[in-house]
Amino acid sequence: MNFLTTALPTIAATDRYRPEFHYTSERNWLNDPNGLVYLNGTYHLFYQHNPFGPDWGNMSWGHATSPDLLHWEEQPVAIPCDEHEGIFSGSAVFDQHNTSGLGTAAHPPLVAIYTSAYSEAAPLAGRQAQSLAYSLDEGRTWTKYHGNPVLDRASADFRDPKVFWYDGGAGSYWVMVAVEAVRRQVVLYKSADLKSWEHLSTFGPANATGGVWECPDLFELPVDGNPADSRWVLIVNINPGGIAGGSAGQYFLGEFDGVAFRSESTVTEGLQIDASRMREYGWLDWGRDYYAAVSFSNMPDGRRVMIGWMNNWDYARETPTGGWRSAMSLPREVSLARVDGKVVLRQEAVDPFDGLDCQGFRLGPQPLASGVLDVPAAASVARIDVELEPGAAPSVGLVLRAGDGERTVIRYDAADGMLRLDRRESGHVDFHETFPSVEAVAVPLWGGRLRLRVYLDRCSVEVFAQDGLATLTDLVFPAEAGTALSVFAEGEGARLVALDVVER
Ligand code: FRU
Repeated sequence: MNFLTTALPTIAATDRYRPEFHYTSERNWLNDPNGLVYLNGTYHLFYQHNPFGPDWGNMSWGHATSPDLLHWEEQPVAIPCDEHEGIFSGSAVFDQHNTSGLGTAAHPPLVAIYTSAYSEAAPLAGRQAQSLAYSLDEGRTWTKYHGNPVLDRASADFRDPKVFWYDGGAGSYWVMVAVEAVRRQVVLYKSADLKSWEHLSTFGPANATGGVWECPDLFELPVDGNPADSRWVLIVNINPGGIAGGSAGQYFLGEFDGVAFRSESTVTEGLQIDASRMREYGWLDWGRDYYAAVSFSNMPDGRRVMIGWMNNWDYARETPTGGWRSAMSLPREVSLARVDGKVVLRQEAVDPFDGLDCQGFRLGPQPLASGVLDVPAAASVARIDVELEPGAAPSVGLVLRAGDGERTVIRYDAADGMLRLDRRESGHVDFHETFPSVEAVAVPLWGGRLRLRVYLDRCSVEVFAQDGLATLTDLVFPAEAGTALSVFAEGEGARLVALDVVER
């Protein structure tokens, strides 16, 4: 065996993959976003973090802060693990009225609700239960609540609490959504003080159940901005068993009356897996690398913004970046729209190029002959907007990150109406057998047109199709020279409506 070829690449050799505008921790391992909360002009991003190495373990909450959701500054580890517990995923709330009594009326606390993953050394060995930590200095330092855990079901798989303030027909109280991961259930609880919790209801199993359910979220959104016509959105991340293989996020739309969530998007019920129906479920993203997505609490402007971990448990431990491992997705504002009579989720990235004075390139309307139209832009960190009319052509699309015999391809195929993201030849793909892949989502054309917004950031491709009605997110690890960009058509009859590229 040749040990040289199996060793992790060095930091220098792989730092070209470090994104510019996606959060990575300076060094070491990162997974789920945790405790997303806004307070007094600052967005807080806590996250699953191993402070001691580039692999999963010693799970603690790392911390970063930002004034704008795009420029993040790493902070000291917020909640470290100890010999008794790993600090697994959870959420944070601003306890404005000091319902918990963990602060004072003058200094209300930030309260983190996290999963204690108890070690063999702990009295509750092997269990997962929900615990609190609080901060009286706007998230800088944290103290674990002495009465932990606050919610224990004597379960080994009860985790990922997301807490929000419910104010509706049934009253006003804190609601927790968490999972019984292996049973594929979301469990709902209520509390007046974040410390004592009462069971409300249980949802699931339903729709995708091919893996454990993790990291749920529940929030209400107006349809087309109309508050009189709203839906509750239940987010359930699943691993494996996602639409593109491995980890993914699914969502249900329905009603929440303060007690139970009633889904109107249940296609299949129970633990039976019906692979033929997977495409009928609601998916947050149809790519391979958008997982554990949850939303911010206490947002200043009523916006609902989510962040996902841009990786997949299938190969996250193997991704070829030395020293640091894994990035967060771009933050995404989610909303609901009615399209052809059906309510659907729409996602729009918080745009890192907005307001920036960047180099740009534009192509106007023109016929696209069969073949390739090279774009004179060197894009490894870029935003690409393209509008295409396939016309009679069987396929149209973009070739990204091309060079050194490598390429990543976004292709629309008229025969089946599917948009595909193909990373089989995207560069370094052989670190895991499931990494080379082609992802696909059905995308109806609008007046014969396909509109794509694509963000590239060194090791990622995020595609927002038809104004964010479908998204595809994939990691790629191309050669440094792989920056060429082109538009292509296969067969005659296609037209380019417009292409806009801004690069950093
Ligand atoms: C999801 C997850 C969570 C858990 C955490 C542990 O990726 O498995 O369910 O709390 O990661 O790091």
